Amino acid sequence: MTPDPTTTTPNTAKTWSQRFESALHPAVAIFNASIGFDIELIEYDITGSVAHAEMLAKTGIISAEEGELLVNGLEQVRAEHRAGTFTPGVDAEDVHFAVERRLTELVGDVGKKLHTARSRNDQVGTDTRLYLRDQVTSIQAQLREFQAALLAHAEQHVETPIPGYTHLQRAQPLSLAHHLLAYFEMAQRDWERLDELYKRVNTCPLGAGALAGTTFPIDREYTADRLGFERIYANSLDAVSDRDFAVEFLCASSLIVAHLSRMSEEMILWASQEFSFIRLTDSCSTGSSIMPQKKNPDIPELVRGKTGRVFGHLQGMLVLIKALPLAYNKDMQEDKEALFDSVKTVKGCLEAMTILLNEGIEFRTERLASAVAEDFSNATDVADYLAAKGVPFREAYNLVGKVVRTCLESNKLLKELTIEEWQALHPKFEADIYAAIAPSQVISARNSLGGTGFTRVREALAKAQATIA
Ligand code: ARG
Repeated sequence: MTPDPTTTTPNTAKTWSQRFESALHPAVAIFNASIGFDIELIEYDITGSVAHAEMLAKTGIISAEEGELLVNGLEQVRAEHRAGTFTPGVDAEDVHFAVERRLTELVGDVGKKLHTARSRNDQVGTDTRLYLRDQVTSIQAQLREFQAALLAHAEQHVETPIPGYTHLQRAQPLSLAHHLLAYFEMAQRDWERLDELYKRVNTCPLGAGALAGTTFPIDREYTADRLGFERIYANSLDAVSDRDFAVEFLCASSLIVAHLSRMSEEMILWASQEFSFIRLTDSCSTGSSIMPQKKNPDIPELVRGKTGRVFGHLQGMLVLIKALPLAYNKDMQEDKEALFDSVKTVKGCLEAMTILLNEGIEFRTERLASAVAEDFSNATDVADYLAAKGVPFREAYNLVGKVVRTCLESNKLLKELTIEEWQALHPKFEADIYAAIAPSQVISARNSLGGTGFTRVREALAKAQATIA
């Protein structure tokens, strides 16, 4: 349970040393406290402390017996937390003090030895990295599920056409699978970005002490190893000052939600009566309180809306570290809510979009087919047709522009021109022009590498499946 620092009356008995004569002002205690949110780190705090206690015993800084008492006591705090019976109030200041204080209540004076050769500065850095490491891994797993949901649709729709747009104006028709695979690629880069930043998150600051290291013969490699860190910070000052890993994570998170937001926008447009490219199922859409005919795309709208929070946290974190002198400054306590809220937001958005793909939308294939058959998105192919027959492309382009204009004036589509009309426009037009401008031909002919041609899309699909297998 998270205590509410605004309603809990703090017992401001001194947490620090005898240097302080009077208790903290109650309002300042509330202002200073992070327990209201950093309780989220409690499991990681205990895990970090267990490794630290074992290291203290292993190096002989405390006795083996003391080490055992500390570890057992810490596990008891963990059990109490899991049972919901450990609910520290604002007087504990933060999760680190809260755990240490409860430990000492449970095991007696030996509890006071836990903080030997350590500071809350290297401790909080360790906790935050342990937390983020887990989150990165679970967001990566969610990205895989999102990718799988995209592929499930893509497999069904290699030969389903969809209008392709630039400037939100009809441009050239696409394979619907090709369109969906574009989002697969974005998600793949998002996954890789997380993979790359993971190694920097996975660097251990424990043992840096407050900022300068410690006089005790600690074994940093041991604790790092026990906690599964890949490596340790080389410089104690940098170890407790660095929040680059948090900025990197928020940057990667921002791109994830930016991609989801682009997809959301398309879903919202596609679900509109004007587009009608998809139908929303009842399980993933909501009604209006007044207009009975409505079915609203709340999921993509919320995802689009939540994007701003993550961008904001990225900006906030950059401003937080800007111009901070080395080493720890209390400003850094502000990193946590930004991370926690971003993690929650990214995970929530990924989950919702995956559900939307899995059961929230149906593509209206007939509508898509008629959409591409009723526009001029095959005009490039008429120019390409002439260019392939030796007419310089720019000349062909100008001619087709004229053709489109005459068609628009006479309210005709290109496919409705008679062969006589074509030949009057240019003698190189022959009867095969009709096949060349049929939507399925227009799509399948774009077989350049990475293009929307069906053969290429099938290859891309197979590759994508192998990537997530
Ligand atoms: N609650 C603090 C934080 O989250 C822990 C570190 C406190 N260190 C200190 N030197 N006051 O940043």
